[in-house]
Amino acid sequence: MTLPPDRNPADEITEPTSESLPSEVKATKQKAAAKAKVPRVTAVKPSTSTSNKDTPKRPSRSKKAATPVKERSTKNGSVKAASAAQESAKPKRPSRKAAPETTLPVQASPASAFTDDDTLNIRLERYRDDLEGSLTRVYGQQVEWLWPRLERLMRRHLAERPYDLRRLDEARLLRPDWLQTPEMIGYVAYADRFAGTLEGVGKRLDYLSALGVKYLHLMPLLKPRPGENDGGYAVQDYRAVREDLGTMDNLEALARELRGQGISLELDLVMNHVAEEHDWAVRARAGEGKYRSYFLLFPDRDRPDAYERTLPEVFPEFAPGNFTWNEAAASWVWTTFNSYQWDLNWANPNVFVEFVDLILFLANKGVEIFRLDAIAFIWKRLGTDSQNQPEVHDLTRALRAAARIVAPAVAFKAEAIVSPENLTAYLGKRDHHGKVSDMAYHNALMVQLWSSLASGNTKLFEQTLASIPAKPSNTTWGMYVRCHDDIGWAISDQAAQRAGTVGADQRAYLSDFYSGQWPESFARGEVFQANPQTGDKRISGSAASLAGLEAARTEAEVRLALARLKLLHTVTLGYGGVPLLYMGDELALLNDYSYSAVPAHAADNRWLQRPLMDWARAEQRHDISTPAGQMFAALQNMIRARQTLPHLHASIESEVLPSPNEHTLLLRRSHPHGQMLGLYNFTPEFQALPAELLRGVVGAYPRDALGGYFWNLTNAEVALEPYGAYWLIEQG
Ligand code: GLC
Repeated sequence: MTLPPDRNPADEITEPTSESLPSEVKATKQKAAAKAKVPRVTAVKPSTSTSNKDTPKRPSRSKKAATPVKERSTKNGSVKAASAAQESAKPKRPSRKAAPETTLPVQASPASAFTDDDTLNIRLERYRDDLEGSLTRVYGQQVEWLWPRLERLMRRHLAERPYDLRRLDEARLLRPDWLQTPEMIGYVAYADRFAGTLEGVGKRLDYLSALGVKYLHLMPLLKPRPGENDGGYAVQDYRAVREDLGTMDNLEALARELRGQGISLELDLVMNHVAEEHDWAVRARAGEGKYRSYFLLFPDRDRPDAYERTLPEVFPEFAPGNFTWNEAAASWVWTTFNSYQWDLNWANPNVFVEFVDLILFLANKGVEIFRLDAIAFIWKRLGTDSQNQPEVHDLTRALRAAARIVAPAVAFKAEAIVSPENLTAYLGKRDHHGKVSDMAYHNALMVQLWSSLASGNTKLFEQTLASIPAKPSNTTWGMYVRCHDDIGWAISDQAAQRAGTVGADQRAYLSDFYSGQWPESFARGEVFQANPQTGDKRISGSAASLAGLEAARTEAEVRLALARLKLLHTVTLGYGGVPLLYMGDELALLNDYSYSAVPAHAADNRWLQRPLMDWARAEQRHDISTPAGQMFAALQNMIRARQTLPHLHASIESEVLPSPNEHTLLLRRSHPHGQMLGLYNFTPEFQALPAELLRGVVGAYPRDALGGYFWNLTNAEVALEPYGAYWLIEQG
């Protein structure tokens, strides 16, 4: 069991005993609960005690502060608490005059010390609407019992937060844009494949610093189930480190060391599911009602079949269907991914509380960024694909608020590999604007990089970017060329149509191209999880192999392959988000075919792009006559250029400038410092652009921040080199 030892047994909430049913079937229960009162957070008087063991303060239950919340029915019969549209039905915060106990203790005596209570209360005041409002929308009147428990939890974690992390919190509060600055460069690696162990990672920091890395995402390292574990995404224990990598103490020490060098640590937070060996699942199988309700268990096929009618399959080849029969639990278990990954029932508020506890526990170990794994899937709704549901955003907003209250240094990154239309919601739309994740993978842009590289045409790229609404100005994109996963061709049919093509045709073409089946393709990838029903064929392969380095036979072909890789990286580094360099790409590592000899990996060709770090090749990084040396030097050059350009602050949007030449992409960034124009040629030929068009944006003599040259735009045309990439900066 993962409850910390000092937890008050009274915290063992047992209210949601109903058997693991999603929210829509809990209508009756919630209706009954609607008569209950909502507690309000009460600011406590300043205390002179600096002790962290203060008795938790219960919120006031005064009648004035506790108004019943009305409910509404939704299309499919679910009952939710009043939403923004029914603002008037929500409990009103009493005015300061009417209820002085809810105001901030501004009259504190100068003699008294500033305590954790003061900190907590100020932050509660700030984030209360985000936390309580979102939870009320999802859980209705259950917030009644949820709130005091959350408050105690936050108080305890704040008390336990180490000094240096509190210092970081204060620094971050003064620099809320820390993730948005052009200096921010991310690096993504499996600890074992990069450096053996966590201690080993600590010994490679010079390597990372040479690349200007400021943020390190260590791939899943919390204790996974034994054997097959989906690359670590089947977690057995979130409070322990994978034994071969080290211990929680090692993790804490590494986080501290990284912090000392100005590098933020990111870890995965697998939210949609746990391993079937996780204690919650073990107890569910043992028949404990509390834990059965953590999962989505069904006695027969009725509801699973009903859900299946509209659910897609994530792993159609090695895990078809979304439900798995489990004999011990005598139930069909919802398993979106592999059969050993049990989906959690986020409609149960206890699951929410567990995750607040886990986030704060890990934040206090020094984790600064949480990658919210498979976040799009956490809320299920009958009749839908059970992805991107509104509750996902409410829950993220509530989790973020809880994190901000205890650990303001912490940021969230959404791993929502969804269609372009659904993407921006993960950074916040409408009321959630800027209040959910701080960063989200720009999956749509990654897909378009590979799409344009294959076709040599940028019209679909332009249409896709133009269709994505502006992100909130306090958020950023995670920019990437490759990662540990496959590439799914998330191309919108509408954007394809506007670009004069057909979505399904383009997707099929890209699969054939990158699996090397298309005649004359330079790529060496493999199809991952072909789905004959939808025609989907995702692609595995390392960036270098997909870009032609593996297939290159002549020096000219090697040059072209490297030019393609540089082009893709230049777009991601020049877009205005956090570039996330995937381990090995800085050395142009090829596909690793050895995975098929490892039984736990053999069925999953995503291991093609999860090689062991090749430290012998890394030695060549100083020798620019080698592909590794050229790639490394090119990235260093881009990174250095990027880090000097205020234009790349993520609060500014990149804007597509429709190009008169369909082989080139033009991205403009309008910054108070002046204009920046990214020019990218996606073909192996020279491409011409009218100088007048560029002059209208960056003036007659801009400087190319990558090449270091001034350009003369007074002629009629400019020529972009094969796969050329340029960052033109308007001069003062
Ligand atoms: C995320 C991970 C992927 C994993 C899946 C299930 O998409 O990136 O590797 O298979 O979640 O956890």
